[in-house]
Amino acid sequence: MKDSKLGPEAYAASRLASRQAANELQDRFETEGKPFGWFEALYARADGERAAIPWADAAPRFKLEAWLAQSGLGAGRAVDVGCGLGDNARILSAQGWTVTAFDLSETAISWARKRMADQFPKASIEFHTADLFDLPSIWRGAFELVHETYNLQALPRDKVADAMRYISSLAAPGGTVVVITRARDRDEVPDGPPWPLSRDDLDGFREAGLEEIQFEEFFDQRDDPIRHFLAVYRRANTKRNYE
Ligand SMILES: C[S@@+](CC[C@H](N)C(=O)[O-])C[C@H]1O[C@@H](n2cnc3c(N)ncnc32)[C@H](O)[C@@H]1O
Repeated sequence: MKDSKLGPEAYAASRLASRQAANELQDRFETEGKPFGWFEALYARADGERAAIPWADAAPRFKLEAWLAQSGLGAGRAVDVGCGLGDNARILSAQGWTVTAFDLSETAISWARKRMADQFPKASIEFHTADLFDLPSIWRGAFELVHETYNLQALPRDKVADAMRYISSLAAPGGTVVVITRARDRDEVPDGPPWPLSRDDLDGFREAGLEEIQFEEFFDQRDDPIRHFLAVYRRANTKRNYE
């Protein structure tokens, strides 16, 4: 199995344990007042073993691939927010996009770079360690396509609205923002991580100045399918100050 030294049974057991480890790290770092610290700690602890990262499937998200295939968008500059091990970025690259991919975790970024060099040498991706909440100014309004999967649902609840503003700020005039997230009803109380988003939570993108152009509910392809939303937004085609 790619990026794993384990056989199928040990892999399944380790993958299950990784969710518990992620929850414990998230709790610990939250208590220490470092709510983002658990991401780097989890990647570092994995020491190159993919089974230790609960979201690392070594494959692009099927819904992103399906959406890209029918989007009708021409290629341009794309950014993958919170790219993890880089599989969504590589599908964007394979579709002809010029891809920038970033993640807060330095370990995730070196791991992603190595995976691409070893397994997908044709993928052309510029990887960066960067914080969504402290973006390089040259990225503001720079991308025709902004892709966000599963980051919002992993962030501290009180940061989600700000995160939507920063994600939106990456889109060029006329640019598209595609968001994939676990879904919940408005009245459901999420017990995360991950903390699924409600339709109302996603209004943050409209409040950030984007127009919603597609919204879909779907279930993923697991044995016990999980409810998701796909939401697509567009920035108006006028130049503006993104600050
Ligand atoms: C649940 S994972 C999703 C990874 C990937 N998008 C996927 O579909 O598998 C969330 C990712 O967001 C990254 N992340 C968390 N906070 C971030 C921040 N402030 N800026 C950039 N990346 C962040 C984490 O390191 C982690 O790789």
